[in-house]
Amino acid sequence: MNADIGVVGMAVMGQNLALNMERKGFVVAVYNRTRKRTEDLVAGRGKGRRFIPCYDLEAFVSSLARPRKVLLMVKAGQATDAVLKELFPLLEPGDVVMDGGNSHFLDTERRLAEAERRGLLYLGVGISGGEHGALHGPAIMPGGHREGYAIVEDILAKTAAQGPQGSCCAFLGPGSAGHYVKMVHNGIEYAIMQALAECYDLMKRGLSMAPREMADVFATWNGGELSGYLLEITERILRHVDPDTGRPLVELIRDTAQQKGTGKWSTQAALDEGTCAPTIAAAVFARTVSALKEERRAAAGVLPGPSPEIREERGGVLEELFGALYLTIVAAYAQGFRQLGDASRERGYDLSLAEVARVWMDGCIIRSRLLVPMRTAFMENPDLPLLFLALPFASRWREHHGALRATVMRAHRVGIPVPAMGSALDFLDAYRTERLPANLIQAHRDFFGAHTYERVDRPGVFHTDWESAP
Ligand code: 6PG
Repeated sequence: MNADIGVVGMAVMGQNLALNMERKGFVVAVYNRTRKRTEDLVAGRGKGRRFIPCYDLEAFVSSLARPRKVLLMVKAGQATDAVLKELFPLLEPGDVVMDGGNSHFLDTERRLAEAERRGLLYLGVGISGGEHGALHGPAIMPGGHREGYAIVEDILAKTAAQGPQGSCCAFLGPGSAGHYVKMVHNGIEYAIMQALAECYDLMKRGLSMAPREMADVFATWNGGELSGYLLEITERILRHVDPDTGRPLVELIRDTAQQKGTGKWSTQAALDEGTCAPTIAAAVFARTVSALKEERRAAAGVLPGPSPEIREERGGVLEELFGALYLTIVAAYAQGFRQLGDASRERGYDLSLAEVARVWMDGCIIRSRLLVPMRTAFMENPDLPLLFLALPFASRWREHHGALRATVMRAHRVGIPVPAMGSALDFLDAYRTERLPANLIQAHRDFFGAHTYERVDRPGVFHTDWESAP
């Protein structure tokens, strides 16, 4: 019996994907650098399943049906390079290698070029959905060699979540398209989580609400248009009671968010691309500030501020908070899609943003009902510059921008930071402003560096000798 596919890396994600693929009817070869994990899988959760356990890479490769299909589920970075270094020489032209880790897209491009030199087909595959998604159906974002995708399409499409508009897997584009899309997915993930954390802070410190009261609010919000996985788990987290202390567990968790780097990469790439992703960037920096726990503790005694208490009627504050959350979440997607469109033009991905929206509809961390109208918006206008220009988002802006403004002002008044909401508001206010104050910045640049400027009243490029002006 030959395996339909082989998975390298038997940490939780690799194991769960292997189990998922086997359940969809495929024979799966499994290999891990240390044999214990493979042994544990086939003796435990994988017992009786059509797995071919392999304990060295040669045996693993020879257990695979041709053309061989290999999915790497190893740590991004050096570990991935180390496996590829051993694996590539064992494969033959026409075999397909997929990297399912959160690899940096530039690493993917380098590895793809190396695979190409060897006549191999390579796919950088973004996989989202965490452990649960890997087992029950993740969103899968492959990019790279299209001929390679044709060979693995059946397996990936069946392994992926089956969303409201089809399998949450689609070939996204050449080169590093898949990993680029996954990186931006994570940038959006950061921004939505930050926006939810800001709601929590306003409810907790501002309105003195108990976690279970907040959970009820999130449950209501999750019943409507904004419904999505991150809202759902926010509610579930807020309801969770710590069995040891009987207290809400969320209140016992240290307030320092860690990060593995994909949000940072997304922001770095946005800066490189010259695209606008301020809400995603704000979410990354918010995590960085949260990590300065000791400094924050010391600063609290030195830098006073107002009392965080919001002395207003709760119902009205919460109603406006919903509008603010809605627009901030849409701003996160809008910036992410904008970045994808810009990167696609710059890097030749030829992405269909409508297809990205469809793939994100289920399985992934940022799945949300909002992706249905987002897909429609991009189907109607594939070159839509920003989601807010299309319906229903343009009307939602009209409806809710007062609420976003009121919420940001309220938060600023009581000294509760709202970097995601604040940056979403600033971004949209700047985006809808015909004349920004950048003329002064151009004058500054010309003043100290003779960088020249353009004028609004006549064509050409100008320089003024500002120093000698009277
Ligand atoms: C997903 C997640 C997943 C991982 C994040 C966590 O889509 O399934 O995004 O890839 O949980 O990378 O990222 P941080 O550690 O940076 O928060």
